[in-house]
Amino acid sequence: MFKDALLQATHAGAEEIRRFMEMEFKISNKEGINNLVTEADHASEKAIIEVIKEHFPDHYILSEEAGEIVQDSEYKWIIDPIDGTVNFANRIPLCCVSIGLEHNGQMIMGAVYNPFMNEFFFAERGQGATLNNKPIFVSKKEKVATSCLVTGFPYTYLDEPNGPLQVFERFIRRGIPVRRLGSAAIDLCWVASGRFDGFYEHKLQAWDSAAGFIIIEEAGGKVTNLKGDPYSPYQPGIVASNGFIHDELLEWIKGNVPAI
Ligand code: IPD
Ligand code: CA
Ligand code: CA
Ligand code: CA
Repeated sequence: MFKDALLQATHAGAEEIRRFMEMEFKISNKEGINNLVTEADHASEKAIIEVIKEHFPDHYILSEEAGEIVQDSEYKWIIDPIDGTVNFANRIPLCCVSIGLEHNGQMIMGAVYNPFMNEFFFAERGQGATLNNKPIFVSKKEKVATSCLVTGFPYTYLDEPNGPLQVFERFIRRGIPVRRLGSAAIDLCWVASGRFDGFYEHKLQAWDSAAGFIIIEEAGGKVTNLKGDPYSPYQPGIVASNGFIHDELLEWIKGNVPAI
């Protein structure tokens, strides 16, 4: 019953994104000139929330543009109507709808759909993860030195010691490939499906990672915060990996670069 609503909501949002990609649309900015929001973000969000409310009028909803619909419920839907808005605004087809469902504080289901690549990632707690209905698994790489990583950067520069640029530089100086796709939800799903071996980012919001978090865990991977503690989507930093490189990746991020 939750799965039906989740799939329907994800497709409803994606349909809006696809429709707007073919048209002119308005783009505005939030705090920071490059922190964009488009008409399509709002249209996708509206369509998603309509579906969820139709099925579960009493559930709690947390959505990037609309904020919170606070209700006294054990269930909370965490929605990113477009993850990868800057890509979308530039008509780069690397963006998605991302929706996670939490029950009593635990993620129980998640879906991430990029309609432009027709890639639908889904996971349900204890049932594994899938891409277009086929099981997916994390990679088997064992060393950071031979890994392909992905990361993202916040809209405003984080001027802190050991911040995003310092960590990025550490890998690049050693010739380790680190990609930057512009959609944290897709980054996470591409770790889940073994395309990347690890992902880290310093500052995400709950809606960026909620769905991808359970998709990686169900694909056999590991997700923590930047210190290595259990992950919660309600704190900013994230490290996600195939599990095998996780401890080593954490050390690199902390600044303890091994001799390679
Ligand atoms: C952003 C993307 C990006 C990440 C940013 C997010 P949005 O989400 O996930 O990859 O680096 O931190 O804010 O704004 O496109 O939904
Ligand atoms: Ca996002
Ligand atoms: Ca978004
Ligand atoms: Ca945004």
